[in-house]
Amino acid sequence: MAISIPRGTQDILPGEIEKWQLIEQKARELCEKYQYQEIRTPIFEHTDLFLRGVGDTTDIVQKEMYTFEDRGGRSITLRPEGTAAVVRSFVEKKMFGYANQPVKLYYMGPMFRYERPQAGRFRQFVQFGIEALGSNDPAIDAEVISLAMNLYKEMGLRKLKLIINSLGDKESRTAHREALVNHFKPRIGEFCRDCQNRLEKNPLRILDCKQDHDHELMKSAPSILEYLNDYSKAYFEKLQQYLTQLDIPFEVDANLVRGLDYYNHTAFEIMSNAEGFGAITTLCGGGRYNGLAEEIGGPETPGIGFALSIERFIAALKAEGIELEINEGIDCYLASLGDEAKDYTVGLLQQLRLAGFSAERDYLDRKIKAQFKAADRLKAKYVAILGDDELKNNKINVKNMATGEQEEIALESFIQYFQGLKQ
Ligand code: HAM
Repeated sequence: MAISIPRGTQDILPGEIEKWQLIEQKARELCEKYQYQEIRTPIFEHTDLFLRGVGDTTDIVQKEMYTFEDRGGRSITLRPEGTAAVVRSFVEKKMFGYANQPVKLYYMGPMFRYERPQAGRFRQFVQFGIEALGSNDPAIDAEVISLAMNLYKEMGLRKLKLIINSLGDKESRTAHREALVNHFKPRIGEFCRDCQNRLEKNPLRILDCKQDHDHELMKSAPSILEYLNDYSKAYFEKLQQYLTQLDIPFEVDANLVRGLDYYNHTAFEIMSNAEGFGAITTLCGGGRYNGLAEEIGGPETPGIGFALSIERFIAALKAEGIELEINEGIDCYLASLGDEAKDYTVGLLQQLRLAGFSAERDYLDRKIKAQFKAADRLKAKYVAILGDDELKNNKINVKNMATGEQEEIALESFIQYFQGLKQ
């Protein structure tokens, strides 16, 4: 029996990959404009990093990690997200000592979560994310959000909804935590086992429970916004002021808690509200994580970032009926007739390519008619036809496939001729 692809993963083939490349290219261009620099960290890390970084009461850590022991007996985990690793590297490489602060980084690469696969949810998916470390200015929160929004907008998406919330600082969270415990404790028996465990360890997680989502106590739960202290409140208001200044519409949703433990102050998600997008509508999630660097053994460092998956990006484009412009076709197909001409095209093809043109020739000994068909399939703009007779006379025919016009030109000026066409 043939071996099939693992569940929750996908092959991205030519024809589809061009969309990925366009999004990735646009993301890199935006990062350049916003001055975020690329960082590449390993695909696997010590499991401890995620236990401490992402949080041991989160779904990710409890249910979704690909964890294994390596041959040296160390516990290793395929990264389920990028932030913990970026902060690990920030601490380890002492980036807090860089002259340029804040340190602004971006990454793009596969993440792994053992989730139940469904539309928009994969076990291997590619995240593009950014992290800004070292600033406590709400203006950088607004910058991070605006980069994500602009990336979506520049690719043509219009049906977007930005939801923001504040999870406050430590003091606000402690007060809110107490209120949550008091709220749920008397009736915690009506909740799932996970929620019962969460009550003492991390009651905020209860609000994010997929199973008890509709329980009446969820709707009446105390809102974090009522527990924000003055600093947290002012921080959140400033962020809203900056978003308004940047013309980025948003909604405040006090129930947005996010699925990772490291957040405080700003939390946000960007959703697609395109019709028919499917059940999972979150395209992008992020927030502030002051304290994460300390958790990982570094100095106190504020940080904020987001991550989005290319898979959901592409699904959103599809839901809005946006066709990206791809596959322009090759510059030239070299057709040949006769053995000597065929041999000659080996060198000529190389010259074309080195001069900067995309070019192809026949490798299957096809008749001239079939070579033209191959040229059509590659959407060749020009087909150059070289026969043994032309070769003897140092000539080559070039056909413009858009107009049907054909010209005979001297073989030695062939490359120059193409260079002239490109100008
Ligand atoms: P997250 O909300 O877990 O946050 O994931 C961010 C984004 O990754 C989601 O909004 C979604 O687009 C995508 N994503 C997550 N899981 C899957 C999946 N199974 N299949 C396809 N796409 C998925 C984080 O990962 C944080 N590290 C974000 C962050 C960066 N916060 C601060 N900095």
